[in-house]
Amino acid sequence: MKATFIGPPGAGKGTQAKLAAKSLGILHLSTGDMLRSAVKAGTKLGKEAEGYMAAGKLVPDTLVLEMLKERLKEPDTARGFILDGFPRNVQQAEALSKIVPLDLAVYFHVPLSDLLVRLVERRTCPKCGRLYNLKTQPPRKKMVCDDDDTKLTHRPDDTESAVTTRFEVYEKETAPLLELYRQKGLLRVIPATGEVDEIQLEVISAMRK
Ligand code: AP5
Repeated sequence: MKATFIGPPGAGKGTQAKLAAKSLGILHLSTGDMLRSAVKAGTKLGKEAEGYMAAGKLVPDTLVLEMLKERLKEPDTARGFILDGFPRNVQQAEALSKIVPLDLAVYFHVPLSDLLVRLVERRTCPKCGRLYNLKTQPPRKKMVCDDDDTKLTHRPDDTESAVTTRFEVYEKETAPLLELYRQKGLLRVIPATGEVDEIQLEVISAMRK
């Protein structure tokens, strides 16, 4: 299974991709996570990407495509994968189709009005990547990860101003992909406002079909 998860910032792509990849025994490839690792490591790519990410803008296609192409050459991708955050525009989708055809595009539908609180209240464990939300999915102990006691962090692009830009970029650049994948017969729409576990059941059912 080679799938992409599409949705606006905060739609739950990362939350659902982590769970589905574990349950299906396939890879979770998040271009956002890869770029954040590059920023943290201070690589050339990280230095080039950092400003775009903090402002909520897309990192230039050439940089992201090069990074993903290299990752898709690794032998572990043969067992299948979920792309989370890629493709982000029509150019990336066209480039991807020349490297590897997808079996499925899952679109997580959440009204924009629900998303701001999800993002502003999101916290992440920098050690294991587990996601929390201080309002809806808080950690058991204040601000530390349930799994490894690491202090949770707040993404620099989860400020109100960067989130506003990310929504605009999503509408202009990424939303047109829905029609593209619908025309190819690959699109599955999942309403994603309920409980994480209920949404996950829908995701797994779509991926097993
Ligand atoms: P990226 O990391 O891909 O961010 P995004 O698309 O904006 O998506 P998010 O990670 O914010 O949200 P999500 O949908 O994964 O939701 P999550 O599960 O975390 O990209 C970041 C930046 O990197 C981009 O802006 C760009 O600069 C760059 N970039 C990345 N890929 C690129 C590409 N291909 N090309 C160019 N640039 C690229 O959940 C969010 C919150 O909601 C969490 O707190 C979670 O706990 C909570 N939550 C999840 N599900 C539910 C639920 N059902 N109910 C209530 N709360 C929930």
